[in-house]
Amino acid sequence: MSSSEHGFQHPVPSEITPRSVYEGRRHWLRQMAAGALGPALASWAARDALAQDKLAALPATRSTVPGAQVMDKPTARADATSYNNFYEFGTDKADPARNAHTLKTRPWTLAVEGAVKKPKVFDLDELLRLSPMEERIYRLRCVEGWSMVIPWVGWSLAELIKRVEPTGNAKYVEFVTLADPKTMPYVGSRVLEWPYVEGLRLDEAIHPLTLLAFGMYGEVLPNQNGAPVRLVVPWKYGFKSAKSIVKIRFVEQQPRTAWVKAAPQEYGFYSNVNPKVDHPRWSQATERRIGEDSLFAKKRPTLMFNGYEPQVGQLYAGLDLSKHF
Ligand code: MTE
Repeated sequence: MSSSEHGFQHPVPSEITPRSVYEGRRHWLRQMAAGALGPALASWAARDALAQDKLAALPATRSTVPGAQVMDKPTARADATSYNNFYEFGTDKADPARNAHTLKTRPWTLAVEGAVKKPKVFDLDELLRLSPMEERIYRLRCVEGWSMVIPWVGWSLAELIKRVEPTGNAKYVEFVTLADPKTMPYVGSRVLEWPYVEGLRLDEAIHPLTLLAFGMYGEVLPNQNGAPVRLVVPWKYGFKSAKSIVKIRFVEQQPRTAWVKAAPQEYGFYSNVNPKVDHPRWSQATERRIGEDSLFAKKRPTLMFNGYEPQVGQLYAGLDLSKHF
């Protein structure tokens, strides 16, 4: 991703660390933590990254929401938790797993406010009990050209929305994430404007596929994946799925999101996955599925709305998707 206006160049797909390199790095971290290279070398950071591997179970039942169970093989958990974008913790794919152990996920509150009849500050424990947890297997397509398949645990954001009763002025929903310079080393850097803000139209936010996620792979979310609560919008590029959310605001005007502020010509408000609308600097027609990306693996064709067209296509009837990218 790029926000060159801010003097920072994000990697383009061709510059992303080759998999063999970061896998090697991970192996090295494991060895270090295991003491194989001598206890003196075992850093706390490496140990904490491994401690993150042991997380509380978050039981869930299989979701029956149409489209919530893709048949593609899920990405290995080790890949989904070590190849991340979470710029508050660094810009390298390995940084979040290495650095996010400092994130304090309890106590945690989520303030829901703005154009609603019943604004409320929810405590995390209250959210965990608000609606039955469902497991949903979604494709996640990053704007950079790679994708994963992740079994998330959570419930439809609509469950929360109906409890706060949006008013007629609620046209959009803004998601504000934690920006704590004490625990997030890159908050304060010029990579993006902080806090990381995302947004959806109200009808997108109440679509049953829009998930408020608390876990993945049957456990609570690892910090690097956006603990303790994040959004997952499977038909949009991954950056719409804001991590570590602290506030949800119902507003009348389209929110100014972090990526639109950083590079409006490259990242639009909608950011629906669309193989026919290229990024100004690369094609979006194909993708690299993490875990399949050996030198000889074929790229996969990217699907319209990431394959969720039957469920969400109607939301965009009549909208020029090349203008509203
Ligand atoms: N949320 C916050 N707060 N900060 C971020 O940098 N990165 C986004 C999104 N949510 C990001 C974020 C991007 S670019 C992607 S692709 C997904 O998180 C990655 O989610 P994953 O690491 O769980 O795969």
